[in-house]
Amino acid sequence: MLRFSTAGESHGESLVAMVSGVPAGVPVDQELISRELWRRQQGYGRGGRMRIERDGAHILSGVRHGKTIGSPIAMVLANKDWKNWGEILPVEEGDAAKHKPVASPRPGHADLPGSLKYDFPDARYVLERASARETAARVAAGAIAKLLLRPLGIEVASHVIRVGKAELRRPATWEEIAALQLKESVLLNCVDPESEAAMKAEVDAVLRTGDTIGGVFEVVVHGLPPGVGTHVNWDERMDGLLAQAVMSLQAVKAVEIGRGVTAAESLGSTVHDEIAYNGGEEAYTKFSREHNNAGGLEGGISNGEDVVVRGYLKPISTLRRPLGSVSFATREPVKAAYERSDVCVVPAAGVAAEAMVALTVARLVVEKFGGDSLRELEHNFRGYCEQIKAF
Ligand SMILES: Cc1cc2nc3c(=O)[nH]c(=O)nc-3n(C[C@H](O)[C@H](O)[C@H](O)COP(=O)(O)O)c2cc1C
Repeated sequence: MLRFSTAGESHGESLVAMVSGVPAGVPVDQELISRELWRRQQGYGRGGRMRIERDGAHILSGVRHGKTIGSPIAMVLANKDWKNWGEILPVEEGDAAKHKPVASPRPGHADLPGSLKYDFPDARYVLERASARETAARVAAGAIAKLLLRPLGIEVASHVIRVGKAELRRPATWEEIAALQLKESVLLNCVDPESEAAMKAEVDAVLRTGDTIGGVFEVVVHGLPPGVGTHVNWDERMDGLLAQAVMSLQAVKAVEIGRGVTAAESLGSTVHDEIAYNGGEEAYTKFSREHNNAGGLEGGISNGEDVVVRGYLKPISTLRRPLGSVSFATREPVKAAYERSDVCVVPAAGVAAEAMVALTVARLVVEKFGGDSLRELEHNFRGYCEQIKAF
C-alpha cells in the first residue's frame, strides 16, 4: 500500500516526509519536487515567512541513480528560520527565559483544545505542529505521487475559483488549468484575469482592515481511466477517500465533488450526466458524457471524466486585529496572541490539495494495478486499458 507520513514543527529544525509503497523504477525529477514546493509558497496575501524561505527537499533514501528503488523514500525539508528559533525551541531543556510561550489561545486554531488535551501550560507546542507549514512536507510527498502517475498519463492540477465574494463565473478547461501550473509568477492562480483582479481586490480590502479571507480551490485529475476506486466497501470509495484527504488540510472546512453543492438544490434531470457512445479516439472508452457534473466519480468509482474536487477554506484565523481570548495565567480577557501570518492562502491550499489528491489517486492506482516495478505497473495498467476499450 502506498502510504505517507510527515513529521516536524513549524519552527523546528526541519520537516520530514516519508513515502513508502512506491514501485521501483519511477524516474525522480528533483526539479519537479522543487517546483511544487515553490508553487506552495506563492499567492497574493501570503505572510513574511514566504519571503525568507525557499523550500527544498533533500532526499535521504529510496531513490538511487535518479529512480525509485522500492524502499521508503525519506525527505528532509530544512526550516531556514531555525537559526532564529534554536534557543526558543531547543530539543534539550534549554533556558526557560528564552522560550516564547503563547499564553492567550487564538480562536480558530488548535491552541485551546490542543493545550487542554495535551496538558500544556501554553499553546506553543500545539500550534507548532498544527501549523500549515506541515503542508510543505505533504507537497514533497505529493510530488512523488505525481511522478508515479506521470508515466501513466495521469495529471493533477489546481486553480482558484473563489476568494471571498469574487468568483470565477465560467467553467475552466483542463488546458487552461494545466497552463496555470507552468506560470512563473502566481497572483491568485485563477484562469481568468478579470476574475483574478476581483479576487486581488478582495485581498487588498482585508490587508487594509487587518482582517483575513477564505475561498475555494478546485483540484482536477486528468487522464484517470474508469474503474479506479470501488463501490463495494464504504472505506474504499474514492469520493470518501478524497474528501478525507482534502478535509485534512488546515483551514479546509468543506469538500465538494463535482457539482455537489449546487446539485443539492437542482433537479435530477439537470444534474446527472447522460451517457452516449462513440467517444473520441483519445478516450479510454467509447462511452462518453456531455458534461461532468458528477466530477468524474459515480458510486465512488472513476468514470473516465476528469475527477473534480473542491475545497472550501475558512478565512485565516490569525488576525492583525486580534480576536478576544483569555489569558491562561490570569483567566482575564485579553487579545489573542499574534503570530506572523498570511491573510489569504487559497492558491497555496490548492497546491497542498493537489498533493493530497495525487497521493490518494496514486494509492488507489497502485492497489488496483499492483506491481513492484513501474514496468510491471505500466504493463498491468495498459492491459486493463485494452480490456475496457474492448468492452
Ligand atoms: C497553505 C496554508 C497556510 C496557512 N497559513 C496560515 C497562517 O499564516 N496563519 C493562520 O492563522 N492560519 C494559517 N492557515 C490555517 C491554519 O493552519 C488552520 O486554520 C489552523 O491550524 C486550525 O486548523 P483548522 O482550521 O483546520 O481547524 C494556513 C492554512 C493553509 C492550508
